[in-house]
Amino acid sequence: MTPVTDTTAPVLAIDGPSGTGKGTIAGRVARHLGWQTLDSGALYRAFAFLAVENSIDPGDAEGLEALSQSSVIQFVAELDGVKILVGDRDITDEVRSESGGRNASVYAKVAVVRKALLRRQRSMRRPPGLVADGRDMGTVVFPDAFLKVFLDASPAVRAQRRYKQLKGKGFDVTLRALEREIAERDDQDRNRAVSPLVPAADAIVLDTSEKDIGEVFAEVMQFVNEQLDPEKTPRS
Ligand code: DC
Repeated sequence: MTPVTDTTAPVLAIDGPSGTGKGTIAGRVARHLGWQTLDSGALYRAFAFLAVENSIDPGDAEGLEALSQSSVIQFVAELDGVKILVGDRDITDEVRSESGGRNASVYAKVAVVRKALLRRQRSMRRPPGLVADGRDMGTVVFPDAFLKVFLDASPAVRAQRRYKQLKGKGFDVTLRALEREIAERDDQDRNRAVSPLVPAADAIVLDTSEKDIGEVFAEVMQFVNEQLDPEKTPRS
C-alpha cells in the first residue's frame, strides 16, 4: 500500500557528510520520539545497486526513469538496523559496502534520479513525525522541516568512525582507503549541480569531531524540545 503523505506531520532534517553519526543520531531521536525514520542514503544506495545490476549507465536518463518506475525498494526495521529488500531479495550488505556508497554518490548526481526519489522520500512523511537523514533533507526534500541540523566532523575523524563501523560489520577495509573514499565522495556530493551537500541557511551546524554520540544526541534533543515546546524547555 502506498502511504499517504501528511504534509502537516513534523519533520526533523539531519544532514551532513558520511561518518558524522547522522544515521545513528536519527535512529536514536526517532526511537525516543516514537517517530518514523527516513534513511535517504539507503534509498540512493539501493537505487544505484539496481542501476549497476541492470547495466544502466548514469547518462541513460530514460533507462533510469524506467528503473525508478519499476523498482520496488523496501526498508524493514530490525533490532540492529534496517534491512534493505528488493522484491524478496536482501541486498543490505552489498548496499552498505563502500562500493555501494561510491555508486550511490555517482547516480545521486543525476537529476532524473533525484526527481524520482524525491516523491518516495516525501511519501515517508506521516504522523506523529519523521526524522529524515541525508544530504538535502533540509534544503530540498523537506524545506519546511521544523528543525534542521547539519552534522559535520573532520575528514580524519569521519574515516576513523567509518573504519570502526565497517570493521564491526565484518567488512575488509583499510583506514587509508576509507580516507581516500571519503574525500572523493565529499568532493562529488558537495560540488554536484543538483542538490549539493550544503547546510540549509536556517540549519544548526554541529561539529561532532570532539563529541561522542551521547553528547550529540543530548544536544539535538535539546533543540528538538525547544522547537516542539519552547515554553517548557529550560536551556541548560
Ligand atoms: O548517507 P550515505 O553515505 O548512505 O549516502 C550515500 C550516497 O548517497 C552519498 O554519498 C550521496 C548520496 N545521497 C544523496 O545524494 N542525497 C541524500 N539525501 C542521501 C544520500
